[in-house]
Amino acid sequence: PTPVQIRTLEKTARTAARAAYAPYSKFPVGAAVLMGNGRIYSGCNVENASFGLCNCAERTALFTAAAAGQRSLRCIVVYTPTRTATMPCGACRQVINEFGPETRVISICDGAQRIETTLPSLLPGAFGPADLA
Ligand code: THU
Repeated sequence: PTPVQIRTLEKTARTAARAAYAPYSKFPVGAAVLMGNGRIYSGCNVENASFGLCNCAERTALFTAAAAGQRSLRCIVVYTPTRTATMPCGACRQVINEFGPETRVISICDGAQRIETTLPSLLPGAFGPADLA
């Protein structure tokens, strides 16, 4: 991704967090994904009274992209309005692997902390589509 694309992803993730439905955790999260076609999709966490059904911002964004026919993930930005950056949970790492095993992962927050890493660092030796081939 270009610096401009990363700036746009960051802004999109911040805006997406405003739509978070997080009445139980009170922990809003926004995410933005850059797909192979250059388009950006966003998502927020969507919780449920049946707690186990809560959906993370990362998966909301990625499923939105998939529903638009986009299956090639290049970069994901996660934003939380906190002092420290939040990393994608284990379930989201697995879902990211499905569409972008080399994805760049960036976490930003309201503090100075900013984490830039890659999916292979976060989920080494991932199980994926090739294992079923
Ligand atoms: N959450 C995310 O949306 N993304 C993360 O990376 C961490 C956790 C959500 C799930 C739940 O709605 C709330 O944050 C607290 O776990």
